[in-house]
Amino acid sequence: MNNYLEFNFKISPLHPWNEILMAELIEIGFDSFTEEHDGILAYIQKDLFNEEDLKEVSTLNNNEVTTSYTFQEMPNINWNEEWEKNFSPINVEDKVWIRAEFHENQNLPHEIIIQPKMSFGTGHHATTYLMIQQMLDMDFQNKTVLDMGCGTSVLAIFAKQKGAGKTVAIDIDEWSVENSRENAERNGVELEISQGTAENLGGENFDIILANINRNILISDIPTYVSVLNKGGQLLLSGLCFFDVDDVLEVCNQQNLTLKKKLQKEEWVSLLLEK
Ligand SMILES: C[S@@+](CC[C@H](N)C(=O)[O-])C[C@H]1O[C@@H](n2cnc3c(N)ncnc32)[C@H](O)[C@@H]1O
Repeated sequence: MNNYLEFNFKISPLHPWNEILMAELIEIGFDSFTEEHDGILAYIQKDLFNEEDLKEVSTLNNNEVTTSYTFQEMPNINWNEEWEKNFSPINVEDKVWIRAEFHENQNLPHEIIIQPKMSFGTGHHATTYLMIQQMLDMDFQNKTVLDMGCGTSVLAIFAKQKGAGKTVAIDIDEWSVENSRENAERNGVELEISQGTAENLGGENFDIILANINRNILISDIPTYVSVLNKGGQLLLSGLCFFDVDDVLEVCNQQNLTLKKKLQKEEWVSLLLEK
């Protein structure tokens, strides 16, 4: 298991800078967060941490906000326990209830049960919410689907619940792959799950591609996603902040994608595009 560093950031004023700082930290490799009353706790694998990257984070150099931080190494942390403490259920529009086994059922039309592990960052609830919110209005019946950066595979599972045909779930992270296998079984759906990135695409095409990752990965990988998207197919993106939208849309325009719907929750945005 990799050792983690825990950064304790104090932020004043807290809003909206806590969300903006989290988005920036994700881009330099931080993968999980706990929100505090006066800042955030942010975690990064020790091997991935680069002090020069942190110095470049714009919120930490911005005169409009006062920030300070301390950090410590966290060996032998029990991540399952941490996630269970921090994971709260998500209610999307009173239609979808995403919960862990230890939460109560709410009898909403859709329920997805996931085991919160490393693959589900609490700082990401808003982007998962936005993806599910967009998916509620999309037609998945018999469509072939790719969930890229599947994490827990919550989106792939929801696609199957909405009638998707063959559904492929891919994540760069080994834990996510393992967690996705457990969650697919837990929710009684069949997914083709593998470890990988856009580099592994090319063998087959899809009607719908879901990618909730982050600005930099999306910007570099959208052309590959589009190359395996059927004509008329849909690309649903999130993991980007409102201030990243123009950069991401520029790549989408170069790929002749048409923007169909944009949703925002807090600082996070989701874009639905059509080929
Ligand atoms: C924000 S989480 C999204 C998880 C889930 N899809 C959701 O919506 O809740 C992003 C996921 O993308 C994965 N990831 C990061 N870079 C990737 C890449 N280049 N290719 C594929 N997956 C990647 C991470 O391991 C993480 O599980």
